[in-house]
Amino acid sequence: MAVASPIAPAAEAKVRCLTDSHGRVIHDLRVSITDRCNYKCVYCRTGEFGAQYPELGIEEYLRLIKLFVNLGIEKVRITGGEPLLRQGLVELIEELARLKTLKGDPLDLALTTNGHLLGKLAHPLKAAGLNRVTVSMDAVDAPTFERITRVPGSFKKVVAGVRTARDAGLTPLKINCVLLRGFNDNEIEGFARFAREENVVVRFIEFMPLEEGRLWTPEIVVPLAEIVDRIGRAMTLVPMAPREASETARRYTFADGVGEIGIIAPVSQAFCGACSRVRLTSDGKIRTCLFSQVEHDLYGRMRAGEDEASLSDYIVQTIYGKEARHHIGEPGFLKPSRSMVHIGG
Ligand code: 5AD
Repeated sequence: MAVASPIAPAAEAKVRCLTDSHGRVIHDLRVSITDRCNYKCVYCRTGEFGAQYPELGIEEYLRLIKLFVNLGIEKVRITGGEPLLRQGLVELIEELARLKTLKGDPLDLALTTNGHLLGKLAHPLKAAGLNRVTVSMDAVDAPTFERITRVPGSFKKVVAGVRTARDAGLTPLKINCVLLRGFNDNEIEGFARFAREENVVVRFIEFMPLEEGRLWTPEIVVPLAEIVDRIGRAMTLVPMAPREASETARRYTFADGVGEIGIIAPVSQAFCGACSRVRLTSDGKIRTCLFSQVEHDLYGRMRAGEDEASLSDYIVQTIYGKEARHHIGEPGFLKPSRSMVHIGG
């Protein structure tokens, strides 16, 4: 008797793309390619350098990323740790730049870095096909910056890296600044000026409980409303319209239209309802939320010899189970087993 065969998972997924059980479409993949970092930022690390989780080969990341792209991912952001420490990064970008989305467009290719090695790598990365970078920079004052990174000479390197990347065309260049009360909240106005002078987009991020130690408290978070208020006392802020529903930053420009700042408020004004993201850790585990309590071992399945159709099916099922939201600040909140540097930003 002939039995109608079910639609192959990958083919079926092509039609319906990656969605979760809360109706969100997932089109943004963040891939960590190392959990090593050459900085020891006080709000992230306890003070040691070393890696904690294994790294995959560049070819293996490529194979995994292709699976996601064939299921509807349109944006790929390479993260770490510090991704510029990884051998083979330029070659990985070259390969990713050749991929097409299901709609037939090139991928939107971005990278998050601390900027230390951008002076050397910005031009090769641009030539390989990288579209833009986000640089983590938590102060515009050298002593404060280096108190945070705990690396002497880092401020000069990063400012030079930012300028090289901007001039190489890795734009719009975004600067991420995690604000911590009592550490760098006196930098807010300086950053607003820096955005205008350097022609970069500065985004202030509320501190989330993802550090290695135990620094996070509700009081150390500088909330969106306070940031707007503080900049607004020195200059006029003009809100900008969101470009897409999943945009995480509230964007503002200034009265003369020169420069842009954004505020990302995962704590005081969570945006989980519009989340379009999924993450792959440097050791090949899928994390459906920064605050997931479980990880999904995609790489383990690949090593065990599962084929592309079976791995694709696993990705579809895993993403379907994505958490509705995080629970920062609620009673019973549990920190994830990995900190930010080991997850990937
Ligand atoms: N809360 C908010 N942002 C963080 N980042 C790192 N740790 C935290 C945290 N605990 C930022 C980094 C980087 C981006 C990936 O996330 O500064 O820019």
